[in-house]
Amino acid sequence: MTKTAKLENLNPVAVKIAHISDLHLSGWLDRRQISAFDRLLEHFTIEGFDHIVISGDLSNGASTADWKIVKDALARHGLYHWEKATVVAGNHDLTNLEEEMRFYNALNPFPAFRMTTFRKKLAEFCSFFSELITGNGSPSFPFIKVLNYPPLSLAIVAVNSVHPWFPADNPLGARGEISSGQLRALVQPDVLDSLKERFVIGLCHHAYRVYGTDALIDQAFDWTMELKNRDEFLNTMKLISAQLVLHGHFHRFQTYMADGIPFVNGGSFRYDVRRYCRLDIEGKGNFSQKFAFLPEKEKGGRSRLTA
Ligand SMILES: [Fe+2]
Ligand SMILES: [Fe+2]
Repeated sequence: MTKTAKLENLNPVAVKIAHISDLHLSGWLDRRQISAFDRLLEHFTIEGFDHIVISGDLSNGASTADWKIVKDALARHGLYHWEKATVVAGNHDLTNLEEEMRFYNALNPFPAFRMTTFRKKLAEFCSFFSELITGNGSPSFPFIKVLNYPPLSLAIVAVNSVHPWFPADNPLGARGEISSGQLRALVQPDVLDSLKERFVIGLCHHAYRVYGTDALIDQAFDWTMELKNRDEFLNTMKLISAQLVLHGHFHRFQTYMADGIPFVNGGSFRYDVRRYCRLDIEGKGNFSQKFAFLPEKEKGGRSRLTA
């Protein structure tokens, strides 16, 4: 579950991380998105980011072909390496809602059968991106990446928060749940010991917080999108002393606090192809976070930063 690497980071003072989410790619004909993704990755390389985090929903329709677009793009920019990038699955990577509903209506399969199909899809995702998950061996969730840079040691603690589609409990396939087995695994004494003295970043697809207003319409929406056991997840993040949690799913670029832990929602690349979350983490664990923008191309091919 835990793998460690000693790295030469590109920035001697701070470790620079770029976080994006919710690409929702729709095949090779989605050319505008693919070339925008290429531009963003090129920018990450030019800016010398040490690590890229993608927090799920790479595909819009749970398609391996979309995962391959992401894999190939990362490879084109020299980023398809365990120490350079991390991905987790989103609900749209594992569930094709239209297919699920058609299948359910036609065959009314047992929940156990549905769970088996879901587990197979998750295993397929893990094996497809094994290089970015465990680098070798048998990739699965949860996993911990320990990256030792000169200024500091970083631990990315990733869990799968996607939960299978069920007609009554998860009608849009967008509700999340992190299995208790994953959360238990993270608080084993040897794991807690390995995280000591490290800058710990929690990572999953689902949001701890969605709208959270009193309006009935928002509450109904929240229910379809929520992380069912978010408080259990938050408690685990506290136990592992996470300094920060990254997620996506709720397509809004935002940061918020939950019981003293900053949460960053990476928004959606689908809706804003130039915006991303930038983290600069210094040696003593001080960090800054902002939503940065990809520079706009000037006529002469040179770039300028707009924010
Ligand atoms: Fe999404
Ligand atoms: Fe999602």
